[in-house]
Amino acid sequence: MQPHYRFAGFLGKRVHLGVTGSIAAYKALDLLRSLQEAGCLVSATLTDGAAEFVRPLSFEALGASPVYGSMFEGSPSGSAFGHLEPGQAAHAMVIAPATAATIARLAFGLADDMLSCQALAFPGPKIVAPAMNPRMWEAPATRRNWEMLGELGYIRVRPWSGHVACGDTGEGRLAPVEEIFASVLRALAPQDLAGRKVLVTLGPTREPWDAVRFWSNPSSGLMGACLAMAAHLRGADVTVVAGPTVLTFPEAVRVVPVTTARQMFEVATDLWPSMDVACCTAAVADFRPVPFGETKFKKASGAGQGITVEFTPNPDILRTLGEAKRDGQRLIGFAAETGDLKAEAGRKLQSKRLDIIAANDISKAGSGFASATNEMYVLDAAGRRETWPQLDKTEVAWRLWDHLLLD
Ligand code: C5P
Repeated sequence: MQPHYRFAGFLGKRVHLGVTGSIAAYKALDLLRSLQEAGCLVSATLTDGAAEFVRPLSFEALGASPVYGSMFEGSPSGSAFGHLEPGQAAHAMVIAPATAATIARLAFGLADDMLSCQALAFPGPKIVAPAMNPRMWEAPATRRNWEMLGELGYIRVRPWSGHVACGDTGEGRLAPVEEIFASVLRALAPQDLAGRKVLVTLGPTREPWDAVRFWSNPSSGLMGACLAMAAHLRGADVTVVAGPTVLTFPEAVRVVPVTTARQMFEVATDLWPSMDVACCTAAVADFRPVPFGETKFKKASGAGQGITVEFTPNPDILRTLGEAKRDGQRLIGFAAETGDLKAEAGRKLQSKRLDIIAANDISKAGSGFASATNEMYVLDAAGRRETWPQLDKTEVAWRLWDHLLLD
């Protein structure tokens, strides 16, 4: 699980996990672990087919409770109404992997096994993630059933392309566990950013000097990724403008990859008029080298002597967005400082026309670049100022959105 998916604030949420007979059934164990790490209590139902691939004991041993099996085995609680229990207890239900047969049952409301009865009696959000052979997935009957699930309000996580177990290639692989996990968290999260269009800049920029060398910084993009994920989970429509980074996002998050500060500037300023909020977390290179040329600089050309590289300023994206800000738009900036944090934060809030600035002292351990945590000083245009303790960046992101919503 990538670090920007590790939200731990779902304590007390209950998820019912349905597993059906697919070779991908073992991946449901990963999903179970991830949901537990997020704070959720998880119960599970394995169909007879699923139990041929993975044992109910594996789910029990990892802490799923209760774990249901066949309809007439009865409920682990001893009740005769196991088929109704998840609908009374859980906040969301996820079926992953879902076979073609289970999708057909769900589409037609057939209630002929424990899992399909539980799904039919489940009033809350239901997420379904199929896995099957590509020809079974492409079959007209499956296409129709899949469409019907959309009409019935199921949250659908479509299968991905690639090699499948039977040796075929095509669409039918279970979506990555992260993708399914994010859909479940989104179903559980408050949708208090629904309808808002959010832009996040993140990562470093890379400023080329010759054909192989560039000027950059160690930003991982994690703080911005956590903000983008938190906004996505809370219902926002999120666009990320990402400098070079290894981080990936759920399919519903639009990602525009860029390399240089000028590319990031072009994309961000183009998108800004159509956005409600922008968060500039990118560690943009303030200067770029005047390029040596298109070819590779040879060591021999400067043999024995040093070389002098000239730098020229890059545009300030955040400042430009601030100048173009219209009524109702909100702008959040970040400040990585080594000096007088509070004074610098106050100065930037004003000079860049920000609504919120989140500043941290990057010389402190557990704060700033390549760290999983941050210790923030948060200042806003209404004069609120807060110092937050060292927190996971996922938690910092969640709190920053809370802060913005307080307005
Ligand atoms: O002035 P300073 O570079 O410290 O400001 C940091 C804030 O400005 C961050 O939010 C950063 O993403 C943004 N920034 C920007 N474009 C630049 C430089 C910084 O958007 N060229």
